[in-house]
Amino acid sequence: MKRIWIGTLGRDNAGEKVLLAGWVAGWRDHGGVCFVDLRDQTGLVQLVASEDKNRSAYLKLHQLRQEWVIKVVGIVNLRPHETVNYKISTGEIEVVVEEVEILNKAAPLPFSIHDDKVNASEETRLQFRFLDLRRKLLQDNLRLRHEIVLAVRNFLSSRGFVEIETPILTLSTPEGARDYLVPSRVNRGKFYALPQSPQLFKQLLVISGFETYFQIARCFRDEDLRADRQPEFTQIDIEKAFVQEDELFSLVEDLMKEIFTLAGIKIEVPFPQLSWEESMDRYGTDAPDLRNPLEIIDASDLFSNTDFAVFKRVLDHKGVIKGIKVPQGASYSRSEIKKIEDLAKAHGAKGLLWFKKGSDKIIPQIKKVFTDKELRLLVERFSMREGDILFLIADNLPIVREALGKLRTVLGENFVDENSYKFVWITKFPLFEWDDGSKRWVSVNHPFTAPLEEDFPLLTSGSYSDIRAQAYDLILNGIEIGGGSIRVHDSSLQRQIFRVLGLDEEEQEKRFGFLLKALEYGAPPHGGIALGLDRIVSILVGASSIRDVIAFPKTTSASCLLTGAPSTVRSEQLEELGIKIIDQS
Ligand code: AMO
Repeated sequence: MKRIWIGTLGRDNAGEKVLLAGWVAGWRDHGGVCFVDLRDQTGLVQLVASEDKNRSAYLKLHQLRQEWVIKVVGIVNLRPHETVNYKISTGEIEVVVEEVEILNKAAPLPFSIHDDKVNASEETRLQFRFLDLRRKLLQDNLRLRHEIVLAVRNFLSSRGFVEIETPILTLSTPEGARDYLVPSRVNRGKFYALPQSPQLFKQLLVISGFETYFQIARCFRDEDLRADRQPEFTQIDIEKAFVQEDELFSLVEDLMKEIFTLAGIKIEVPFPQLSWEESMDRYGTDAPDLRNPLEIIDASDLFSNTDFAVFKRVLDHKGVIKGIKVPQGASYSRSEIKKIEDLAKAHGAKGLLWFKKGSDKIIPQIKKVFTDKELRLLVERFSMREGDILFLIADNLPIVREALGKLRTVLGENFVDENSYKFVWITKFPLFEWDDGSKRWVSVNHPFTAPLEEDFPLLTSGSYSDIRAQAYDLILNGIEIGGGSIRVHDSSLQRQIFRVLGLDEEEQEKRFGFLLKALEYGAPPHGGIALGLDRIVSILVGASSIRDVIAFPKTTSASCLLTGAPSTVRSEQLEELGIKIIDQS
């Protein structure tokens, strides 16, 4: 007899003899009648055996315990109307067991694997990941992930993109994180790096004539981990020759539409676009959550003649005065406002000014800070209504952006509709930023990003901080789900950028000689993007961490609690590699 998937059973099978196999998900005996919920990867069905009708089957069922593995043969029976279970697809039937074979037993579970009864710490669940993965929620997550990957492959393939694998043992490509290094045995003292992304290989493929490339690519980054960061993660990596930003945007928008439809979500395209500058000004961040309606507004010009010493000093030093209005926020208590002030200070602000608009008067925080005229202008600028509160920060621009950006997130929490999906493209990032630690210019994106054509002259004039890049990020609900750029395809421009980054000729040759050479042999203009698959799936399933959409994730200290990786290795292995461990304790 052929095994049947439980999920395919229904009314139509009534009267049929079926062979099922799976795990015991639940078990109960109602005095002489034993019920077992049998689970396979497609669903759950109720098995039943009664002592008086089939004693041997009854006794076998009676012996079973949670998660034992069994095989049964039985007859599909329609359940009496009053016992139909509408929660499961097989709820209209049960299987009257004729024969039972126990294939394996299971030790008592360390925790419940029912989604609604998760009673263990994440640590324990990660140690027993093979059990945690039996939970329906995680099963559903990984199945949706599979569907998405399949849809991405089909979509890109239908648009002429070809999936090509690139090396895992390779030379490091800078993407802003540390590399995971792999020592070479045959080349003692030398190391491969695991790819932070396939960036250079995809550019080389385009140069090789694969004009439309993609890859579902595993990437490795040794960086500080958070809920949306894993040391190894997966990108939907795309590159195209002869492409402009707009064409890539609409390709990705169509792809997103496809992905979201799979999860039953309809999204609007095209996505709005904001320049980096505008995003920083209005939201204080380059990854704004547009579900949050609060916006930062500039009020510097209202205070050009102020007598208030703090504002005067800030404006004299080319600082700014900006604020956020919270509609109906006047009910904030003193202690709540104190917390908001502490948050602003934790992000560099020296202080926080606020005032509330009452029914007939404005209630300033400190009397005499603002003149009546200034208060009136502020009310106008921020369109304040009765019951609103306004928070103001005066400082240099980066601090005001940072502090008000953080405040906006907290102040806007209650306005966010958790069930909406707000995408936005952030464009025209700065090409370089000054790194105070190493006292040099670094790439905001990566060094292969092209400057905006109109900003080319700034490269020669040395105004590096003003150069904008042809780089873009895709943000969904405040999370960066993708990033890319139009690339440099001219070797002399690439060399010029390397020079700004402090790489002399020798270093350029050593680290990127292969790229510079390839750019000299007919490199077409090209660009691309990489989308964070784990982040996209986790947003779709409403997970609080990308760990919930990765089968075997690592902890925030980059370890795998299931296998114990990373681990020490045998001394012979180290000797072979010529590596000596220096004990730091
Ligand atoms: P970027 O570094 O922006 O671009 O990465 C692309 C996207 O990958 C996701 N991502 C991560 N997801 C989980 N864990 C991580 N540690 C992690 N780091 C990044 C994010 C991010 O937007 N080579 C370029 C792309 C290009 O220019 O085409 C790149 O890797 O969603």
